[in-house]
Amino acid sequence: MNLLVTGGAGYIGSHTVYSLIEKGYGVVVADDLQTGHIEAVHNDAKFYCGNIQDTNFLDDLFKLEKIDAVIHFAANSLVGESMTSPIKYYENNVYGTMMLVKSMIKNNVHNLVFSSTAAVYGEPENIPIKEDDKKLPTNTYGETKLAIENMLKCVSCAHDFKFTALRYFNAAGAHKSACIGEAHKPETHLIPVVLETVKGKREFVTIFGDDYETKDGTCIRDYIHVSDLAQAHILAVEYLKNNNESNIFNLGNGVGFSVKEVIDTCRKVTGHPIPVRIEKRRTGDPAVLVASSSKAKSILGWQPEYTSPDTIVQTAWNWHKNQRYN
Ligand code: UFG
Repeated sequence: MNLLVTGGAGYIGSHTVYSLIEKGYGVVVADDLQTGHIEAVHNDAKFYCGNIQDTNFLDDLFKLEKIDAVIHFAANSLVGESMTSPIKYYENNVYGTMMLVKSMIKNNVHNLVFSSTAAVYGEPENIPIKEDDKKLPTNTYGETKLAIENMLKCVSCAHDFKFTALRYFNAAGAHKSACIGEAHKPETHLIPVVLETVKGKREFVTIFGDDYETKDGTCIRDYIHVSDLAQAHILAVEYLKNNNESNIFNLGNGVGFSVKEVIDTCRKVTGHPIPVRIEKRRTGDPAVLVASSSKAKSILGWQPEYTSPDTIVQTAWNWHKNQRYN
């Protein structure tokens, strides 16, 4: 089976490519390297540099390569940036996906695995969050991902086209080989920010708020290892092939850890004291986000392997110690 992975040079995309190649799939990567890293693209994947908004690029690619399904990561994904540059997010995420889907239909490619997010829920009403819970995003990034999910539903009613949307909670960790890992510019995610402090790139970690109604006052998140997310994409491709129906799944470990607990885990794993400063809350941060992934477990047969925060942070640290991206 031959798969096109858009955004295969990015964080979750590159890990999915590694897992696909390990399982014997043929992989074609399309990435414009706007935020991705060429060093993260697996040597056995065929690489095309281009933007998914360019339908000529996509049409040519679909003509040159026999593609059975698409796994679509290419997007902008920084919540803060999405609030200050909303048009960039609608253009790259919503318009980009529209052009990809248009080209897929034109070229008779019927199955898409779409990279969605817990940000579609906004402030949750229930914990753990289930797929059918209320969706009211609190940021532009979440709005664009929800708009795409809705568009995919309409397209799948009108055309011979099926999709699975995977709503990730907090992706974390790095490949067990430590060859690929998480590197954003600017870096805003908690675990890499903490590890940059250990490496001396920052003096301290800012904790955004310790006055939430949680056990220690800091926000609680559901951290899920990037290689477990990668496995879920493979199961989602097989689900589409075997069932020919669209579906949506949450992907998380189902256990929440506070910001302070994550920093303590990083102290334990790295042996570094990690100084912190408490600042005011960051706008748009819900107090608690924890997934119910029982649907993915029962329907896809997904079983996360990296359930301990120590192991997740250890893989991230192994990568950060030797980071080789430019
Ligand atoms: N945090 C800090 N200090 C930092 C960075 C983060 O205290 O320097 C806190 C945040 O306030 C939050 C927690 O650590 O409470 C996790 O923050 P991240 O920025 O690592 O992740 P988010 O939960 O904000 O966002 C993640 C993904 C988004 C996705 C969202 C879904 O990065 O892409 O989950 O809710 F949209």
